[in-house]
Parts: sequence; structure tokens; C-alpha cells
Amino acid sequence: MKRKKILVTGGAGYIGSHTCVEFINAGYEPIILDNFSNSKEFIPERIQEITGTKPRVIDLDCAAYESLLEAVKAEGNINGIVHFAAFKAVGESTRKPLDYYYNNVASTTSILKLMEALAIDNFVFSSSCTVYGQPDVLPVTEDSPIKAAESPYGRTKQICEDLIQDFYKAKEDLKAVSLRYFNPIGAHPSSLIGELPLGVPNNLVPYITQTAIGLRQNLTIFGDDYDTPDGTCIRDYIHVVDLAKAHVAALSYLEKSNNGLYDIFNLGTGTGNSVLEVVNTFEKIAQMKLNYTIGPRRQGDIVKVFADVSKSKNLLNWETKLSLIDALRDAWNWEKSLKTADIS
Ligand code: NAD
Ligand code: UD1
Repeated sequence: MKRKKILVTGGAGYIGSHTCVEFINAGYEPIILDNFSNSKEFIPERIQEITGTKPRVIDLDCAAYESLLEAVKAEGNINGIVHFAAFKAVGESTRKPLDYYYNNVASTTSILKLMEALAIDNFVFSSSCTVYGQPDVLPVTEDSPIKAAESPYGRTKQICEDLIQDFYKAKEDLKAVSLRYFNPIGAHPSSLIGELPLGVPNNLVPYITQTAIGLRQNLTIFGDDYDTPDGTCIRDYIHVVDLAKAHVAALSYLEKSNNGLYDIFNLGTGTGNSVLEVVNTFEKIAQMKLNYTIGPRRQGDIVKVFADVSKSKNLLNWETKLSLIDALRDAWNWEKSLKTADIS
């Protein structure tokens, strides 16, 4: 049977590469659209090592609409688009806001224009739990109010969600979902793909694994005087493989609908873990003592957030299967497998 083609923007990136693997496993043909601004050219080969299939690659900037239209038209019938491509570093976005607005918002506009031009109906967008800020009620549901964004990055996600909704209102045959990811961590269990942070990581888990391997001297835990059981902040850490599978579930949800729709889903485990719990779990898995100290609070940090996942469970028929232990084990194996050539 002919495989349905899915265009995966940012498909060579961290979450996109894992999602390509799951689309291939589910019988689709993902086509990667990536300009490799934050990923490596060898990733499609790694996807082939895992699945036996090398995805085709369109090496273009999503915002380059005219070239994109020509290249995607040449691929023939596209069943849906999963749009990961974006810049994602919160700190950098405050220093380079124009780069973030251009790359994240112009790219999304261009991709939606492409959908209109080529009559592609199914659209899956990568959003973030950052849109909730510090929620008043936990676990946080999709109906919780959107809070003022803490950074230009966060604002681009809010703007893109609005953009998609406005496009849907104007074009009611569009079937689209925004997926609000909580904290993706871990790597593929094969250790062939994973997160490749550029420079000093901002996120907790890559900082932990780089400290354990000796690339960083010491992890600083940002504050232990919060109003939580052990005083450190709480997040909902989701294994990237579980997250990748949610995209297949979301696409299938759209395919099954006969009518246009726009919907929003939380993607998390439904459970919160503190920074100290993550560190202690890692120490058990790696069987080592991690160098860490308690430092001051990080500005803008949310105290605690974790997802209500009942909507995803009921409508997407998806829930996480992997644990924090699985995710930290896979992140650690991936770190140990990395060669200097991979990260330089
Ligand atoms: P990533 O940087 O690893 O992947 C993004 C990919 O998009 C990269 O391969 C990059 O080269 C590509 N890209 C960026 N701009 C492009 C453009 N204009 N044209 C073509 N390709 C472009 O990031 P990720 O962690 O895989 O995140 C994927 C998506 O999920 C992003 O939209 C991000 O904002 C969102 N998200 C990520 C997290 C997280 O913690 N990783 C959390 C919430 C939401
Ligand atoms: C980050 C992003 C957010 C995004 C979310 C999900 C920032 C400021 N925010 O937030 O936009 O939606 O990921 O991917 O980057 N920590 C330490 N020491 C460290 C690093 C982190 O103690 O060296 C703590 C943080 O204070 C936090 C927890 O670990 O309590 C998780 O931090 P991080 O991985 O940066 O994720 P988020 O803060 O959730």
C-alpha cells in the first residue's frame, strides 16, 4: 500500500527526528523540511539506522515561501504537515527578538500559506506549556487562561496559536491542532538520536548529563526555598519518544474528522517532579554522585506546573508509557554515546 506523505518541518531536530521515526513505524512517509540551523546533516541517516528507511530531505528555510511551494509541489500529494521548525532558546529570544519573530512567526505564516496553496488540510503545531505561565490551578487544563508571556519566544508560540485559529476561522475545512508540550527529555533508546544542545545547555536534563560526563563542573539548582515539598521547582517531564508518538495520534485524530476543526492538547505525563527528585533519580541510574550546589532562584521561573492530560487521553487515545527513570536512562546513554564530532 502507498504510504501517506507527511511534511515534517524541523524534522532533523530533537523532537522532529523522534517523530519521523514514529511516523515511519506507523506506516507513513515523513519528508523532512529543515534548514539545519539547529541540527546535523547526519540525522536522516540515523533515522534510517533505526527504521530501515531514510526520509527524503528538503533543505530550505520555511519562511522562503516561493521556493518552498515549488519544492513541496514536486513531492506530490501531501497528507499533512507537522510544524516543529522554530528557534527555541528562551534567553536568546530576549537578546534577538526580531530573529525569533521572523523565524517563528514568518515560518508559520509561510507554512499555512503553503497549506492553502496546495490544499493540504491536516496541520499539527508545536506549542508549549509556557503559554500558561504560572497556572492558578493544577494540574493545568487546556481551558486555563493564557498568561502574559515571559519572553519573546513564549510570545511567538502564543501568536502562532492565534494565527492558526484565525486561519481556521477563515478557512473552515482546515483541521489543525496545537500541541502544548510540557518538558520533553530523554532520547531514543537506540542512542542514535537525541538532544544536541548548542553551547551551554539551559535545560535541566542536558545540564545534568553534561555535568556527569565531565563537560560541566557543577550543576546549580536554581533555588530550594520555593513553596514545594523539597523547596525546588516542579515540572512535568515527558519522554521524547512518548511525545513523538502523540504526533502520530494527533494526525490520525485529524484524518478521522470529516469536518474542519481547531483544537488544543496538553502533552505531558500528568505528574510533577521536583528538580531534586530528577537529580536523585539520575544519581541512582548513573550510579554516581552528581556535583551540584544550590544557587539563587532563576528569574522568571515558574514554581510548579504539570498537565491535566485527560483530554489527550480521551480524544487522541494517547498517554505516556515511559517513566522518568526511562527518560533519564536514555538521556544518559545518549550522552555517553556522543562523540565530539556529533556536538561540534
Ligand atoms: P530543535 O531546535 O532541536 O529542532 C528545530 C528544528 O527546526 C531544527 O532542526 C532546525 O534546524 C529547524 N529549523 C529552525 N528554523 C527553521 C526554518 N526557518 N526553516 C527550516 N528549518 C528550521 O528544537 P526541538 O526541541 O526539537 O523543538 C521543536 C519544536 O517544539 C519547536 O517549535 C519548539 O519551540 C517546540 N517546543 C520544544 C520544547 C523543548 O523543550 N524542546 C518545548 C516546547 C515546545
Ligand atoms: C523551559 C523553557 C520554557 C519551555 C520549557 C519546556 C526557559 C526559561 N523556559 O522551561 O519556555 O516551555 O522549558 O521545554 O528556558 N534548573 C536548574 N538548573 C539548571 C537548569 C534548570 O535548577 O541548570 C531547574 C529550573 O529552575 C527548573 C527546572 O530545572 O525548575 C527545569 O528547567 P528547564 O529545563 O530550563 O525547563 P523550564 O524551566 O520548564
